Amino acid sequence: MALIEAKGVHVRFGDRVVLEEVDMSVLEKECHGIMGPNGAGKTTFFNVLTGRAKPTRGELFLDGENVAGLPPHRIARKGVARSFQIMTLFDEYTARDNVMVALPQFRDRGFDMRRAAAGDSHFKSEAEKVLADVGLADKADIRAKELPYGDRRALEIAVALAQKPRVLCLDEPTSGLGTDGVQRLLGLAQKLKGKLTMIVIEHDMSFLFSLADRISVLHWGQVVARGTPLQLQENPWVKRSNLGKFS
Ligand SMILES: Nc1ncnc2c1ncn2[C@@H]1O[C@H](COP(=O)(O)OP(=O)(O)OP(=O)(O)O)[C@@H](O)[C@H]1O
Ligand SMILES: [Mg+2]
Repeated sequence: MALIEAKGVHVRFGDRVVLEEVDMSVLEKECHGIMGPNGAGKTTFFNVLTGRAKPTRGELFLDGENVAGLPPHRIARKGVARSFQIMTLFDEYTARDNVMVALPQFRDRGFDMRRAAAGDSHFKSEAEKVLADVGLADKADIRAKELPYGDRRALEIAVALAQKPRVLCLDEPTSGLGTDGVQRLLGLAQKLKGKLTMIVIEHDMSFLFSLADRISVLHWGQVVARGTPLQLQENPWVKRSNLGKFS
C-alpha cells in the first residue's frame, strides 16, 4: 500500500481551478519527484499535503487515513515536514538554534527562543547531530543570516529533519544555487534517499532525474505524465515540452 495516496484532489481559488482530479501515489521510502511549468500547481499540491490548502474535493490518504483538510499542525504531527520555496529561517539565530526550536521535544516544552539561546545540553547535542547529517557540523554557531546561500538551503533541510519526519517535502531545493551548490545538495538528498519518504518539486531536470525513483508531471493542475526517469525521457508529452531537456 502507498504511504501517500491522493485521489481526485481538486483545488479551486475563486473561479480558478488550480488542481484538477490529481491522483498521485507515493510509496514508503520512495523519492517521488514533481515537475511542471510555473503555475502548474506544484506548490499548491504541497499545500494540500501539509494542510495549508483545503481541497475543494478529493481524498488524501496518509498511511490509510484520509487527512484532506486537516490543519497543518495535525498533519505535521503525523510526520509530514516540508521546506518552503521561500526560505523561512530565523535569521538572527544560530544554525544550532534554528534546528533546536524545530525538535519535537523542544516544542513540547513550549516554544521559547530565550531558552534556545540559553541552551540545554541535550537539545544542543540533538540539534548538532542533525546539523552533522546535512554537512553543517562546523557551522553550528554561525547565525543563519551569515551563512552562505548553499548552507542556508542545507539548514532549511535540517530544520525539517529535526522533526524526525516520515515524509520530507522539498519545494525547489536547488533554487538560487550555482552548479557546486546543486551538486552538494544532490549529494545530501541522495544520502537521505531510502531513509525516509521524499517528495521533491524541482525545475532542475538533471537533478530530479538523477534523484527520483518516480516522477509526476503537473501541467495546468493535471498530472499529464508519470513514471520512472527513464520512462519519462521517452514520454511524448515530456519530449514535446521544454521540460524534458536535461543533460
Ligand atoms: N492562495 C491562492 N489564491 C489564489 N490563487 C493561488 C493561490 N495559491 C496559488 N494560486 C495560483 O495557483 C496557480 C498555481 O500556483 P502554484 O504556486 O501551485 O504553482 P507552482 O507549480 O508551484 O509554480 P512555480 O513553479 O512558479 O513555483 C498559480 O496560478 C497561482 O497564482
Ligand atoms: Mg511553486
